[in-house]
Amino acid sequence: MDLFEKLLQDKGPLGRHKFIDDNYYMFPKLEGEIAPRMMFKGQEVLTWSLNNYLGLANHPEVRKVDAEAAANWGLGYPMGARMMTGNSNYHEQLEKELAKFEEKDDVMLLNYGYQGIMSVIDALVDRKDVIVYDAESHACIIDGLRLHIGKRFVYPHNDMVSLEKQLQRATKLTEESGGGILVITEGVFGMSGNQGNLKGIAALKSKYNFKLLVDDAHGFGTMGKTGAGTGEEQGVQDQIDLYFSTFAKSMASIGAFVAGEAEIIDFLRYNTRSQIYAKSIPMPLIIGGLKRLEILRTQPQHKDNLWKIVHAVQDGFRAKGFNIGTTTSPVTPVLLKGDLYEAANLVRDLRTNHGIFCSMIVYPVVPKGVIMLRIIPTAVHTLEDVKVTIAAFEKVKGKLDEGIYAKAGSKGATVG
Ligand SMILES: Cc1ncc(COP(=O)(O)O)c(C=O)c1O
Repeated sequence: MDLFEKLLQDKGPLGRHKFIDDNYYMFPKLEGEIAPRMMFKGQEVLTWSLNNYLGLANHPEVRKVDAEAAANWGLGYPMGARMMTGNSNYHEQLEKELAKFEEKDDVMLLNYGYQGIMSVIDALVDRKDVIVYDAESHACIIDGLRLHIGKRFVYPHNDMVSLEKQLQRATKLTEESGGGILVITEGVFGMSGNQGNLKGIAALKSKYNFKLLVDDAHGFGTMGKTGAGTGEEQGVQDQIDLYFSTFAKSMASIGAFVAGEAEIIDFLRYNTRSQIYAKSIPMPLIIGGLKRLEILRTQPQHKDNLWKIVHAVQDGFRAKGFNIGTTTSPVTPVLLKGDLYEAANLVRDLRTNHGIFCSMIVYPVVPKGVIMLRIIPTAVHTLEDVKVTIAAFEKVKGKLDEGIYAKAGSKGATVG
């Protein structure tokens, strides 16, 4: 069969939804300054879908430093991979400052979170080693596992009994192979908002010999007293052997890092293929990164504002009887019951008639029959934004319950 013909017959799990109005549900364009109010299809909307947790994307000091760095350095410098010709004092300074903030010996910068963590996993393990991982791990962790040619064992999300069983299996195997064990989880899971049970995993270290890698993309900047993340939040930062985060969320930028003990980070510098064979991060992102980290460390008001909004959102939704799952972080999933058709109509109603923009997550990311509307609170939202949003959600939930968005037996025309 012709390869391209085959692809077009299937289109893939997400591509199948392409029939629904392009640029409305898929690839929507939010225009204007990154803020709670942006333009969508010519209409102002209240946005709850940006991981701009601390509001740094449009912080005046950040914007100024980004612009000056771009003017001074351009987007090219430094050219080449870090190992060859792409290093600079600024890159090293950002690594040192991140290491200090995370209370680790050293840090290696990564060009992107996704490729970075895949490649870190690839560098850490060989065919003798076993990876044990949480079933709800992000796609980039799953793709990292795909590179692993040895065994990998999954445990149901945060299920410590099952994790222990898998560690027993892994221990037996590695005793025979002479390999080691790597456990991978997330700090904050980006869909449910659950924290990984880092404390529970760390407790197993006294019984089993393994190293722990934590992807804290959503926890960095948002969790813990200083914002150092979920390890700090749970009091087990020192038990995390490798702490990873992207700059794509709280830092509102591009890039990522991995922190750990000096010799292991050095090992990674010489063995992480996505970094050895790729151009290093451009200077404006590094200088902008230093500024963001400084603000994150010295201006706690952004995290305080974030949590004020998080509590208002989560308490408010719960008080009105909404199911927001088991979140213990800023990520707030609002779980409703309905099919894809109802989800599409509901979201169109929310966006067009209530001016509320949040992401809709449907099967296969969540089980069939579940509509997840994910709310990402930020430091720059207001309590009034929260009030307006919950009132709009009450209206659309009422319509959903009445069957107004349903295809068959619809009580009214679809919306928007
Ligand atoms: C848990 C997690 N890890 C890694 C990434 C990928 O990071 P990046 O956007 O820097 O590639 C994401 C998404 O951005 C994420 O949610």
